Amino acid sequence: MTAPRPILITGAHGQVGTELQRRAPARYEVVPTDRDELDITDAAAIAAAVASRPWAAVVNCAAHTAVDKAESDVEASWRLNALAPAIFAAETRKAGIPIIQISTDYVFEGDGDHAYRPADPTGPRSVYGASKLGGELAVRTANPQHVVLRTAWVVSAHGNNFIKTMLRVGAERPELRVVADQFGCPTGAPDIADGIYAVLDAIVDGKEPWGTYHLVNAGEGSWHALAEAVFAAAQPFGGPAPAVAAIGTDDYPTPARRPANSRLDTSSFIATFAHQPRPWRAMVDEIVGELLEIKTA
Ligand SMILES: NC(=O)c1ccc[n+]([C@@H]2O[C@H](COP(=O)([O-])OP(=O)(O)OC[C@H]3O[C@@H](n4cnc5c(N)ncnc54)[C@H](OP(=O)(O)O)[C@@H]3O)[C@@H](O)[C@H]2O)c1
Repeated sequence: MTAPRPILITGAHGQVGTELQRRAPARYEVVPTDRDELDITDAAAIAAAVASRPWAAVVNCAAHTAVDKAESDVEASWRLNALAPAIFAAETRKAGIPIIQISTDYVFEGDGDHAYRPADPTGPRSVYGASKLGGELAVRTANPQHVVLRTAWVVSAHGNNFIKTMLRVGAERPELRVVADQFGCPTGAPDIADGIYAVLDAIVDGKEPWGTYHLVNAGEGSWHALAEAVFAAAQPFGGPAPAVAAIGTDDYPTPARRPANSRLDTSSFIATFAHQPRPWRAMVDEIVGELLEIKTA
């Protein structure tokens, strides 16, 4: 039997990093790192980590993901989201190691109502989106053996995310006001992890799938639709059932401008990796179930 192939993961305590560890197939030896083991603002530490083993791939999940905070913390955002991927890409290129870089729907302008394809023109409207686009460009430029995976609206049973916020505030208030004029593809961190393993399989099997792809759960909806799905999923567990009022983006001002259209077209991902992410509502049911089962256990 072939020995498990070593994979270096950054941001291992985050939503995607956690699920990559939980869902690792036996053919991989996942080596998780977060800020304590590998601070991605430290170029020498990145170089040493990349050179330390013959990695089958590096998966860079670490990022500055606080979208509103990034507007006033430009340096940290660019350091983590653009400079660190640039250094990872240069070091992996030197070592002949492929890199998977996770990116975001926020690289797009977010107008219209079509689902963005990977080659569509970008036009970020926030510091976060611009810095993530900088990271994409750096990775594409520095290491030809790259896969950039754009995802969106990430939720999971861990970390900070919309599902956990809804369950918390829904238990405190009888009515919530949720934005109904931004549309996207809610996506589970477990589903992203499974998609990343499909990419790793292609890489390890020598298929050279280099390029940029979109990886989100199937279907689309607004934040309001997602909130309603969360509370519907919570009912069998006796979870909160607040009224959910639909509001517009203008009624809920935030420091960062968010795209009204965050839809991503996954067809090239599905065709290349023969992996079809499930509908987002099934993903929400599973995550809400996991969260409320844990609470009532
Ligand atoms: N969340 C979303 O809705 C969303 C949407 C589209 C794309 N994405 C992308 O998907 C990827 C994974 O997102 P996620 O939701 O899993 O993010 P997350 O939960 O915020 O996790 C990010 C991780 O990076 C770590 N990190 C921060 N600074 C670091 C440093 N200097 N050195 C090492 N690690 C550091 C964080 O640690 P601390 O907690 O200690 O800071 C955290 O564990 C990111 O590239 C993100 O841009 C996310």
